[in-house]
Amino acid sequence: MGQNQGTEGPTKEERDERDYHRPVLADQVVELFRPVLPGVVVDATFGGGGHTRSLLRAFGDRVRMIGIDRDPNAAPNAADLPVRFVAGDFRDLATHLDRIGVEDVRGVLFDFGVSSHQLDTPGRGFSYRTAGPLDMRMDPSSPLTAADIVNTWPVEDLIRILREWGEEPHAAQIARAIVAARPLSTTTELADVVAAAVPAARRRRGHPARKTFQALRIATNDELAAIAEGVDAAIDVLEPGGRCVAISYHSLEDRIVKRRFRAGAGRCVCPPALPVCACGARPELRILTPKPLRPGAEEVASNPRARSARLRAAEKVAA
Ligand SMILES: C[S@@+](CC[C@H](N)C(=O)[O-])C[C@H]1O[C@@H](n2cnc3c(N)ncnc32)[C@H](O)[C@@H]1O
Repeated sequence: MGQNQGTEGPTKEERDERDYHRPVLADQVVELFRPVLPGVVVDATFGGGGHTRSLLRAFGDRVRMIGIDRDPNAAPNAADLPVRFVAGDFRDLATHLDRIGVEDVRGVLFDFGVSSHQLDTPGRGFSYRTAGPLDMRMDPSSPLTAADIVNTWPVEDLIRILREWGEEPHAAQIARAIVAARPLSTTTELADVVAAAVPAARRRRGHPARKTFQALRIATNDELAAIAEGVDAAIDVLEPGGRCVAISYHSLEDRIVKRRFRAGAGRCVCPPALPVCACGARPELRILTPKPLRPGAEEVASNPRARSARLRAAEKVAA
């Protein structure tokens, strides 16, 4: 029972959960997993455990939750829950499950990106709004930091990641400005260098460093390769009838999920110019969301971080 029984505010549990990270599209996640239970669901991006709590509230002991996160700081969020927490990368999903003796997985959930807690902790270096070290590692023990990239990568590599992973139209100007300003050590120093490198008009359309920070975060954490491998691993571990649900926050993440699901559903995803199919499309999935689900206006109003969310879901079919 919540501590504030008899008052109108949130319970302590609800406050802690909101402070760490408010789950996005939680009702939709619950409904997508309802038909696959009872059984094991893996929350592969555990974070604050917001989605896990929603599933436990909805299904009680009909769901057995496994929580995975590459950030060990997420572990305490599982302490008061009936959850088996594993600190690790979701790209190694099969190994993690093997190690804890879990088979027969009915569901896997991905909620990509960083948690509000990571973003709002200046010392983690994810935010261009607050001063902190240029770190950006989701797993603080991994060897590559954003500072390593900013201060040592050749300008051509910086241009490439800013273009490809930031979709930054002023990639070359920004990359050259970064190299000229080396060494950079804080988030706000970098944000100022980026702001000074782009045309004034750009500064009126949102924060000019947003795309640069996205590119650096993706590079630091090898995020897109992890997503491709993680979704593959999820499809592999699911039983027939099990479901994979993935929430993305930008088009690069969403494209990977969409392509993988389409290939799994037997739809060829080769470029049209290719004379024969090389993508190996075979029907092992049924797509449950022909168009991605988006949050409603009410959810976006109460949780602005939900604005760009797109949810895709697919069900494993019998081989
Ligand atoms: C958006 S948050 C998840 C929030 C969570 N759904 C909730 O409601 O509290 C994403 C989380 O995924 C974790 N993460 C990102 N990439 C990962 C990966 N490759 N393996 C494991 N965890 C990852 C991040 O560390 C972060 O805690």
